[in-house]
Amino acid sequence: MSEYLLEMRNIVKEFGGVRALNGIDIKLKRGECAGLCGENGAGKSTLMKVLSAVYPHGTWDGEIIWDGKPLQAQSIRETEAAGIVIIHQELMLVPELSVAENIFLGNEITLPGGRMDYAAMNRRAEELLKELNINDVNVVLPVKQYGGGHQQLIEIAKALNKNARLLILDEPSSSLTANEIKVLLNIIHSLKAKGVTCVYISHKLDEVADICDTIITIRDGQHIATTPMSEMNIDRIIAQMVGREMTQLYPQREHTPGEVIFEARNVTCYDVDNPERKRVDDISFKLRRGEILGIAGLVGAGRTELVSAIFGAYPGDYQAEVWYNGQKLDTGSPMKSIRNGLAMVPEDRKHHGIVPDLGVGYNMTLSVLKDFSRATRIDQEAELATIRQEIKAVKLKTSSPFLPITGLSGGNQQKAVLSKMLLTKPKILILDEPTRGVDVGAKFEIYQLMFDLAKQGMSIIMVSSELAEVLGISDRVLVIGEGKLRGDFVNDNLSQETVLAAALDQAH
Ligand SMILES: Nc1ncnc2c1ncn2[C@@H]1O[C@H](COP(=O)(O)OP(=O)(O)OP(=O)(O)O)[C@@H](O)[C@H]1O
Ligand SMILES: [Mg+2]
Repeated sequence: MSEYLLEMRNIVKEFGGVRALNGIDIKLKRGECAGLCGENGAGKSTLMKVLSAVYPHGTWDGEIIWDGKPLQAQSIRETEAAGIVIIHQELMLVPELSVAENIFLGNEITLPGGRMDYAAMNRRAEELLKELNINDVNVVLPVKQYGGGHQQLIEIAKALNKNARLLILDEPSSSLTANEIKVLLNIIHSLKAKGVTCVYISHKLDEVADICDTIITIRDGQHIATTPMSEMNIDRIIAQMVGREMTQLYPQREHTPGEVIFEARNVTCYDVDNPERKRVDDISFKLRRGEILGIAGLVGAGRTELVSAIFGAYPGDYQAEVWYNGQKLDTGSPMKSIRNGLAMVPEDRKHHGIVPDLGVGYNMTLSVLKDFSRATRIDQEAELATIRQEIKAVKLKTSSPFLPITGLSGGNQQKAVLSKMLLTKPKILILDEPTRGVDVGAKFEIYQLMFDLAKQGMSIIMVSSELAEVLGISDRVLVIGEGKLRGDFVNDNLSQETVLAAALDQAH
């Protein structure tokens, strides 16, 4: 028996003539946990889709040797039967189906006679969620009732039910809280102990360093190195990923905030399902011209609700007064807000940020089509010129402006959504988790872009769960806890401890 559970040899995958994978070789030992690292668009997800037959045998070149034998699977069903289970980067749950139905989709428990055994499925679903330490999910409710973090956990529970020999986790933790990530990493540790082999993909390199035995780096569709973690550290992983040393994670600050220009007054949001409960409780704050204001707090503190209400996008009842330059603005809906100089890049890009089948470029110009309308037609040349300029400005990696946006890697989709909002030329830009799923190099580029915009006088509000990022780029930090404003700090060497203590409402 070969010591390798899996060998992928000389894998080549093209999309419309563009090479995403350019002859990749990787090997996995039994029971090993390998971190697959690379920049946005390097080919990580594509490689794992080749392996799990999302792209069936015949749609790519090369060879897969699984457990000593060639694997030429035509469907995910076949690879799952062989023991290869993948948790996709983009959630694949069916919103209308219950949590339990989602977990057992395609894998249903049936009674003798063929009818569904809902009782058994619900029971087993509850057990699986308990293993993940989730106690606040009702398995009979539709999945759409739950937020991104819970949906991610439900997806993980679904995979755990499949008895994987090889478990592939593609960005499993992007919407999880610190505690949820701990639970996930513990589960992977115990799977490893049971001999399950894992591939872990994450731009949160501290997680990768924590659980992986080996680091496989790829760049531009090519294999760069496979190195034991014992010989690596995070800086070295980054250097292999980007092909150079990255000494600085944050750009040089060259902007200075000006006078107070914007004010949000008395923002209150009521829970959508339980209007008695306030998700945001009477928060007011000011913002200066050219200032970057970070909003920190634990997940569920009300940060997204706060900024959605300011932008007129909060789905439930709310009150919010928004003032710009001494004038009260009508921000009753996103359209009105955009007309009044606000823009928001939402947290949940898949549901609020993009039109999946539309080209990258057309997604970008969606909010500014009127700029290109000439009497009865659209000036397509002008539109395309703007698109090309913007693609360059944010360094978006795409083979063509016409590629459907879902063909972009995760981090590049994020840049496209950012571009879309920048084209509206906002005075106030709201970014909710702008670097989720974005690689270190591209993060730096997004920060640089934010600094440039601030220097030009744009004011930016940024919600982020990455405390290091909040402290790395904000001029001021608001701390939200349980819907209330718990701190407003000028970021003058502000410490993580101070922010955390405020978030938890401890004396500081
Ligand atoms: N369906 C598709 N059509 C066209 N091009 C695609 C498609 N899927 C992926 N690509 C291209 O293949 C390349 C690799 O993309 P992939 O999604 O594998 O990157 P990734 O390493 O997973 O990045 P990220 O860290 O952003 O998730 C990218 O250039 C991407 O635009
Ligand atoms: Mg990916």
